[in-house]
This record gives sequence, structure tokens and C-alpha cells, in this order.
Amino acid sequence: MENSANWFSLAGRTAVVTGGSGFLAGAMAEAFLSAGAKVSLWSRSPEKLAGARERLLARGAGGGEVGMEAADCGNPAEVERAFERAASTLGVPSILVNNAGGNHSRAPLTEQDLPAFRDVLELNLVAGWLIPTQVFARRWIAAGLRGTCVINVASLTAYKSLPTSWAYSAAKAGVKNLTRGAAKELAPHGIRVNSLSPGFILSGQNEALLLESREPFRLSARGGQVVSRTPMGRLGQADDLKGTMVFLASEQAAGFVTGVDIPVDGGFLCDNI
Ligand SMILES: NC(=O)c1ccc[n+]([C@@H]2O[C@H](COP(=O)([O-])OP(=O)(O)OC[C@H]3O[C@@H](n4cnc5c(N)ncnc54)[C@H](OP(=O)(O)O)[C@@H]3O)[C@@H](O)[C@H]2O)c1
Repeated sequence: MENSANWFSLAGRTAVVTGGSGFLAGAMAEAFLSAGAKVSLWSRSPEKLAGARERLLARGAGGGEVGMEAADCGNPAEVERAFERAASTLGVPSILVNNAGGNHSRAPLTEQDLPAFRDVLELNLVAGWLIPTQVFARRWIAAGLRGTCVINVASLTAYKSLPTSWAYSAAKAGVKNLTRGAAKELAPHGIRVNSLSPGFILSGQNEALLLESREPFRLSARGGQVVSRTPMGRLGQADDLKGTMVFLASEQAAGFVTGVDIPVDGGFLCDNI
């Protein structure tokens, strides 16, 4: 009988994780490495990338199999160059994780600043989705490379717009919506497109919002609200994303899965009255 552990092997594959120096990228990279893939981390700052690679190696992940490319994913020429370099050092990437993104604009609707609104759309939809997806899909199609996949990182804001996060909610709803459209267009080329929506994951960025103190561990009022509306009764950890990432990337496990979003949120979206 076939060993089901083999369904989750990514041996021989190269995964690109954009936003590769960020908080969640570390766990995503660890997941791919532990499944046998090589990983190329991409973001703009070479210094931040070097730090991220060091942290991965210090945790015993990856050996020489972790590459890094400094690239602005909002610039098609830089993405093309990064693809060439990653392919020549680690092998042609067959997994793209569109993880670059974030929210640096929060305001009541009536006070939303226009340039900041546009910046957040540009980051999450254009750099965070459109340009890398176009570059990878064109290259895979031209090379006749099938069994490839794109995994978009959406958010719970794709389902429910969060107060003050106007552009971020719009952009992530767009990412989730376009995941389906792209899945349909690219399926005949052997390219699967799915997304994952992390719930409230405790990270450096939101710690001040969700925690009163880390030691002893005490939630803030906002953190308490989030946990009380999460059926599983806790905040998420970056490690919670690992299994879903590997599942979506694996042809053996998810070869007939395309156009879906998987919330990894402890049931937050199931909350009702
Ligand atoms: N953390 C959460 O709780 C959470 C929840 C739901 C969804 N998400 C989503 O998960 C993803 C990762 O979140 P995170 O918390 O790990 O973010 P993060 O720590 O802020 O990291 C963001 C990364 O994106 C890179 N980046 C920004 N602009 C870029 C560009 N134009 N081209 C290439 N790279 C760029 C940044 O590096 P440089 O500045 O050097 O480019 C950084 O590596 C994002 O899409 C976020 O929206 C996060």
C-alpha cells in the first residue's frame, strides 16, 4: 500500500516565497524545507533577507538549500531577474507563494488618506499578487512546465472588512476573488492557484495591539475580544500555517484542488451570535 507520508513530499521542487524576510515567511520556508523543497526568499532589502536566512539556518532548517533574491515584486523587470537567478542557483521554481503584503494604513473611513490607500492596494494586489503571478505563469506556460502552483496569502479581511483597514480589506478580498479567476484561466496549463487566509496570528507587528504583556502572557482588551470570538479559544501561531502550505503545494495531496481559499483561523469565520 502507498505510504501517505509521500503525498506531502516536495522533494525536487523549488519554492519562491515573496515577502521572504517577513514574519510569516520564516514558518512557510521551514514547512517547505522540511518537506524536502528548496526555498528562495524574495523581498526588497538584502539586509533583512540575510537576517531571515540566518534565522532559518540557526534553527537547523535548510543547509545550502535556502536562497535569497532582493527584488521589488512591484517591478516586473526585477521579478524576471529574480526568477532567472533563483532558477540558476536552486532550480526552476515550481511553487510561488505570493506572501508580500501588509497594512500600513489604518483610519476611519472619513479620514482615510488617499495616497496611503493607493499604496496598500499596490502592495497587496500588484506586488503581492499580479506581477509575480504573471511572470511565473508566463514562464511556466512558455516552458510547458505543468504541476506548478501559486499560493496566495489572503486574510480574514477578504471575508469581513475590518474596521479602519479599508485598502487592506479591499486588496485581500481582491486576492481571494482573483485566486478563483486565475485558477480557471491557468488550469489548462497545469497551474493550480489557491489561497490561504491566516487568522489573527501573533506577530511583532500586532503584538502591541493584541497583548498587554508577553511575560506573563496577558491579552489586551482587543486580544481578548479576538480570542472570545475564536471557537478554538486562542490566537494563531505562524506554525499553524505550515501544514496547509505543504498540502496546497503538493501535487500528490492537492493535485485536484484549485481555486479555493483555506482560512487558518481557529474557526474565527464561523463565529455567530
Ligand atoms: N501577520 C498576520 O497576522 C497576518 C494575518 C493575515 C494575513 N497576513 C498576510 O501575510 C503576509 C505576510 O505577513 P507578515 O506579517 O509576515 O508581514 P511582514 O512581517 O510585514 O513582512 C512583509 C514582507 O514583505 C516584504 N515586502 C514588502 N513590500 C515588498 C515588495 N514590493 N516586494 C517584495 N517584498 C516586499 C517585506 O520586506 P521588504 O520591506 O524588505 O521588501 C517583508 O519581507 C502578508 O501578505 C499579510 O498581509 C498576515
